[in-house]
Amino acid sequence: MSVTQPVYAAFRAIGAYVPQKILSNADLEKMVDTSDEWITKRTGIKERHIAADNEFTSDMGAKAAALAIKRSGLEKEEIDLVVCATVTPDYFNMPSTACIISDKLGIKNVQAFDISAACSGFVYGLSVAKAFVESGMRKNVLVIGAEKFSSIVDYTDRSTCILFGDGAGAAVISATKNKEEGFVDIHASADGAYADFLVTPAPGSRNPVSQKVLDEGLQYVQMKGNETFKLAVKTLTKDVKEILEKNNIRSEEIPHFIPHQANYRIIKAVGDALKMREDQVALTVHKYGNTSAASIPMAINDLWESGKLKKGELMLLDTFGGGLTWASALLPFSGESV
Ligand code: COA
Repeated sequence: MSVTQPVYAAFRAIGAYVPQKILSNADLEKMVDTSDEWITKRTGIKERHIAADNEFTSDMGAKAAALAIKRSGLEKEEIDLVVCATVTPDYFNMPSTACIISDKLGIKNVQAFDISAACSGFVYGLSVAKAFVESGMRKNVLVIGAEKFSSIVDYTDRSTCILFGDGAGAAVISATKNKEEGFVDIHASADGAYADFLVTPAPGSRNPVSQKVLDEGLQYVQMKGNETFKLAVKTLTKDVKEILEKNNIRSEEIPHFIPHQANYRIIKAVGDALKMREDQVALTVHKYGNTSAASIPMAINDLWESGKLKKGELMLLDTFGGGLTWASALLPFSGESV
């Protein structure tokens, strides 16, 4: 009788892509009634990057993914599942951005699909990768978070246009027999009762494209900023407390707390509530703004490229977004250090 050895999912490599063009607070001062001082004080954001007119979510996702595959040491032919988390896909209905990215990477005959979970999309994607790998269905999963958020932002609305930026991040998740390399835990959840906190009313089956949609600007993101802020702090804190307690780990033992980069005040409030030291908390919101599903992998990439994220070190991911959705993950970085 043969005994099957358990398989674990390991986070093998990270990559990211940041578009060239910078939109600074000074630029925004010329577009809407705002100031660098207000934006800095309320959000911590100084600048964000914006994709070129002819640069799409799939272009950014493919660049981040190519880097992650290269760093994983795998051949692209070894990737057997491509998952792209995005709420700003190249096309709103079909084909999926994951299909387009697979083609751009030259990966043929591969299962590919998108995940719609807004800012929580990348961590949702990791939960899918973990399940596919640990069930034995797939060996090497590419998880991408990519957004051209500027394509759904109304640059006359000062309450939203200051927050968001474009970019992409990607990770390779591979099967391992070594439990030490595997994910410790992952938790993803949602509550549709808060669907109207963050919404793009069109296009969709409720509001197909029409003159009315364009006249009313329903294609742009709408947000209940204040309510979202309060719920974000509460949910992000609760989620981390639960995952740490469940796994018997104290917050001071976490070398890398990597929260969703939406607003510095949210990150600070959550970090303080969890008694995290400043050196434990990853911070990129000042230079990228909120890049939705790309925010966490872009932050992981920054840590890795700066040499601060080393092989075997624990990462605690914590995210929150439209849906509402939220997710947290506890896992070691199991790729090579810089
Ligand atoms: N510049 C200057 N003033 C602005 C402004 C801007 N860009 N945006 C809003 N204001 C004004 C408002 O009009 C309001 O003026 P009033 O008091 O005269 O009515 C005042 O500033 C306060 O607005 P308010 O919305 O209460 O500010 P806030 O402190 O809540 O900050 C956000 C606004 C959007 C920065 C904050 O609510 C936030 O970050 N929310 C969470 C957003 C988020 O993270 N979303 C994504 C989740 S994944």
